[in-house]
Amino acid sequence: MQVVDNLVALRTRIKNWRADNEVIAFVPTMGNLHQGHLSLVKKAAELADRVVVSIFVNPLQFNDKQDLDNYPRTLNDDIKQLSELRCDLVFTPDDSIMYPRGMSNQTSVHVPGMDDKLCGLGRPGHFDGVATVVTKLLNMVQTDIAVFGEKDYQQLLLIRQLVQDLNLPMDIIGAPTCREQDGLAMSSRNQRLTESEREKAPLLYQQLQAVKTALLENRQGLDAALADAQSQLSEAGFETEYLEVRRADNLQPLQSGETTTARILVAARLGSVRLIDNILCDLA
Ligand code: PAF
Repeated sequence: MQVVDNLVALRTRIKNWRADNEVIAFVPTMGNLHQGHLSLVKKAAELADRVVVSIFVNPLQFNDKQDLDNYPRTLNDDIKQLSELRCDLVFTPDDSIMYPRGMSNQTSVHVPGMDDKLCGLGRPGHFDGVATVVTKLLNMVQTDIAVFGEKDYQQLLLIRQLVQDLNLPMDIIGAPTCREQDGLAMSSRNQRLTESEREKAPLLYQQLQAVKTALLENRQGLDAALADAQSQLSEAGFETEYLEVRRADNLQPLQSGETTTARILVAARLGSVRLIDNILCDLA
């Protein structure tokens, strides 16, 4: 496994693989890798001859400076974990490679229809930051396939849309959320939970499941089920940002009686940590 921090070395390696007609799969990350990330790398290895992982904590997508400063940076440990998998190349650019003219002079990619809902409302500018860095990374790596986790479901849809809208010649693959034994979705943020917050955190997934059960049993009872889930979360100390049921294909609100695949999505703060999760609910 090779680790490169510059574009010339990255491009040289990719060019050689392309010349040999090898299929390349790419997993962009911000590091601090856990089993969830590693499952994306394993998925990429199943789908391609060559696997590239990037590690870059993207300042452009943090609307909160403290959140950016607190983001754990564990490069040596990340590289060690990747070296134990089938990963061929790790790309570790810094801000000067990604934003050579500074972030405020960077051409920005905006995917419409994302800022006015769910995570877009609570994190102004976040999705432009994600869309911009992912477009740049996809162009730098010139991959055939890119793998993203379903845990960041709105991000996955945003990337699918930008790849379609900009005619980028690659497939976007969504991979299922990895969970701890108690159901908590794996996230780099989990390690910032205190011991007592960590004990409460699985309630988020439990309430998603409670809403799903209620929705499948009786569609009319959805509002009551959402209100009940919110109040259970708030009693346990969560501050809910949103808890909603949306169409899975475009995150539009579900119309009454609509028979489609839905996603139940939540974002909530527990102490200083913002957690998100979502599950599928098939109403078709
Ligand atoms: O999901 C993430 O870790 C980031 O948003 C991504 C896709 C690597 C872009 O910085």
